[in-house]
Amino acid sequence: MEFIAKSGSPEKQRTACITVGVHEPRKMSARVRQIDQASGGMISSLLRRGDMDGKLGQTLLLPNIPNMPFERVLLVGCGKEREFNEQRYLDVIARAASVLNDTGSTETTSYLAELEVKGRNNAWKVRQAVTTTEATLYRSDQLKSSPVQPRRPLRKVVLAVPKRSDIATAEQAIAEGKAISAGVALTRTLGNLPGNICTPEYLADQASQLAQSYSFTVSVLELEDMQRLGMGALLSVARGSRQPPKLIVLEYRGGDDDGEDPVALVGKGITFDSGGISIKPAGHMDEMKFDMCGAGSVLGTLKAVGELKLAINIVGIIPSCENMPDGNANKPGDIIKSMSGQTIEVLNTDAEGRLILCDALTYAERFKPSAVIDIATLTGACVIALGKEASGLMSNHEPLARELLAAARESHDRAWQLPLWDDYQTQLDSNFADVANVGGREAGTITAACFLSRFAKKLRWAHLDIAGTAWKSGKEKGATGRPVALLTQFLITRCRDKASAQRASA
Ligand code: BES
Ligand code: MN
Ligand code: ZN
Repeated sequence: MEFIAKSGSPEKQRTACITVGVHEPRKMSARVRQIDQASGGMISSLLRRGDMDGKLGQTLLLPNIPNMPFERVLLVGCGKEREFNEQRYLDVIARAASVLNDTGSTETTSYLAELEVKGRNNAWKVRQAVTTTEATLYRSDQLKSSPVQPRRPLRKVVLAVPKRSDIATAEQAIAEGKAISAGVALTRTLGNLPGNICTPEYLADQASQLAQSYSFTVSVLELEDMQRLGMGALLSVARGSRQPPKLIVLEYRGGDDDGEDPVALVGKGITFDSGGISIKPAGHMDEMKFDMCGAGSVLGTLKAVGELKLAINIVGIIPSCENMPDGNANKPGDIIKSMSGQTIEVLNTDAEGRLILCDALTYAERFKPSAVIDIATLTGACVIALGKEASGLMSNHEPLARELLAAARESHDRAWQLPLWDDYQTQLDSNFADVANVGGREAGTITAACFLSRFAKKLRWAHLDIAGTAWKSGKEKGATGRPVALLTQFLITRCRDKASAQRASA
């Protein structure tokens, strides 16, 4: 999709379709009034007649407005002005995108980014317009034998901004929105691929392709490498499957070469989670193909970073394998030894994510990272606690947690912090090993993070549990691409802060 920023009033636009918002009840914005006046009151008479009253999600497509240089107008209901907020803004953008895509306007000039959203500036509204439009029109149908395509899909969106002087910031917002959308799309596509296609090897191939396109360096550790490193926790999970495990390492150097410590992103890459010997019930088990969405979000974020050429160093680390109940699989009660030297009693083979992540965290130490963020579909308990709206955030470093929460708010890719108090650690006591891999029914999301924290003692570390946010179930089943927007925002902000600190000291 092509996005362009432009200023100017609607009655002068030569375009297939003008898109404008109408608030309830039948309230014409300044922009709608401009069209109305130029067309001799056509819109006000339609509104008066009751064709549309501006309820949220309502749309009315008007062809042939007299004396106008454009072919039609799409009115989009925005609900009551007083109740208009961030979420509704995004709903309106999404609604407009799908109507335009279905009604044959291949291009539009949209005034929706001019709608007033409390606390948000033009740049925010423009960037969200881009990401929401792209996300709405995304389809994952490459495995259908005849994908359904709209006859005349939307191809170009001109986003109107109030003043000429707003164009430059809008263009930057468009660039960020497009980069994030490309990353989100990659994450969604990888997530949606089934376990028989998206294997650890497939993820390694994808990482190599990404590395080629954006000149990252990539290395893939094989089974023997992991054995040499003593990654007994990761290997114990991999033993239950016929697919060989991979530990994928991607390095992006956009920052100073001379020793700027990288940000490490560690993504859980279980390409299918059957539960292993502690096997899961059959219902919805197909959704465990999404158990590599953390890994997918690392690749997606790196794609966005590569598109934006951010001036920062990043290392992506993806431990990847299947969790299956082979004859050689982990058994409840087995005791394994992690790369850190700590022994682990595997009381439940379905708590496998933390087993592959703990060795990846130990491995991350060698990059001397300034911060480590792991991203994992780690616990069903997180879905119970926070639902599908917020990712769970836990950290051993409060400033890092605050940075991530700010990025989550800014990107509208929301997260909520849970406590990581020492008091929860005793739930992981084992009579036979240093630590148990499960902590009982209570506070399951927190005890999973507590487990990881034992392997992150030397790191400034944060953990994002995306079990509720990485995909949707039911009729809309599919990966969401979260939290690529959050992570990219976090990195964009770090770059900006670094640049302004450098300017201040120069
Ligand atoms: N991948 C799952 C977590 C999950 C479950 C995410 C359902 C989304 C929906 C993870 O590997 C797992 O199975 N976790 C167990 C942990 C338990 C055994 C302590 C869980 O949440 O049930
Ligand atoms: Mn599991
Ligand atoms: Zn899992």
